[in-house]
Amino acid sequence: MTREEIKDLAVRFKDSTPKEIITYFIERFGDKIALSSSLGAEDQVLTEMVVNIDPGTTVFTLDTGRLFPETYDLIDRTSKKYKIKIKVYFPDHAEVEEMVNTKGINLFYDSIENRKECCQKRKLDPLKRAFSGLDAWICGLRADQSVTRKDVQVVEWDEVNGLVKINPLAYWSEQDVWDYINEYKIPYNPLHDKGFPSIGCLPCTRAVMEGEDIRAGRWWWENPDTKECGLHKK
Ligand code: ADX
Ligand code: SF4
Repeated sequence: MTREEIKDLAVRFKDSTPKEIITYFIERFGDKIALSSSLGAEDQVLTEMVVNIDPGTTVFTLDTGRLFPETYDLIDRTSKKYKIKIKVYFPDHAEVEEMVNTKGINLFYDSIENRKECCQKRKLDPLKRAFSGLDAWICGLRADQSVTRKDVQVVEWDEVNGLVKINPLAYWSEQDVWDYINEYKIPYNPLHDKGFPSIGCLPCTRAVMEGEDIRAGRWWWENPDTKECGLHKK
């Protein structure tokens, strides 16, 4: 797929429903497309849609080793409800041991550099393995999630990973996500009801206060303009 075609498709699917978008790209990429799920609210919506469109589509998650117990429970509940095997990718144990034994178990609080190294080893390196053999990935990014995501489009070229990136919920609001979850009785992380709109690793996620930005609880000690783990940089 050329960059030109990607640009055209982004315009063509701008006003399409997420189901239409997913249907088109699953047909287009076959077994070379997968859903990358963090088990967050958006990804639960996408899992339900993907399974209904084609239950054979790969759904994978990156288990950093530092997730919330509620997230592990949700991996299990979701797999059982939709009768799918969510493929779990783990970090390289030797790399994590080396990092933790030199820099400390909670190294991420000590510097941005440490935090990025931890995200690299626990998320980005496993993601690279998950991508091998794929031409496209589906994710749950939405434009109104944060300043870093305001330009998100339905289909983009992911320069860093060399893949087509599909964001079927690019133009959905948080309310759209929750209306869909309630309508279709989709299982979700109970932490969402306790003030956690965006859930990542336990030590790097806190609840947000009324009126705070939805990603304010992620790496809350860092500047909002730079707060991405590297999974979604341009
Ligand atoms: S993050 O980069 O800050 O962690 P966020 O939690 O908002 O991202 O999730 C955005 C999208 O990134 C998700 O919809 C999902 O597609 C992907 N993603 C994030 N974390 C994971 C994970 N642990 N495993 C698989 N995909 C993930
Ligand atoms: Fe490490 Fe925190 Fe990144 Fe998780 S979010 S990989 S614990 S730095």
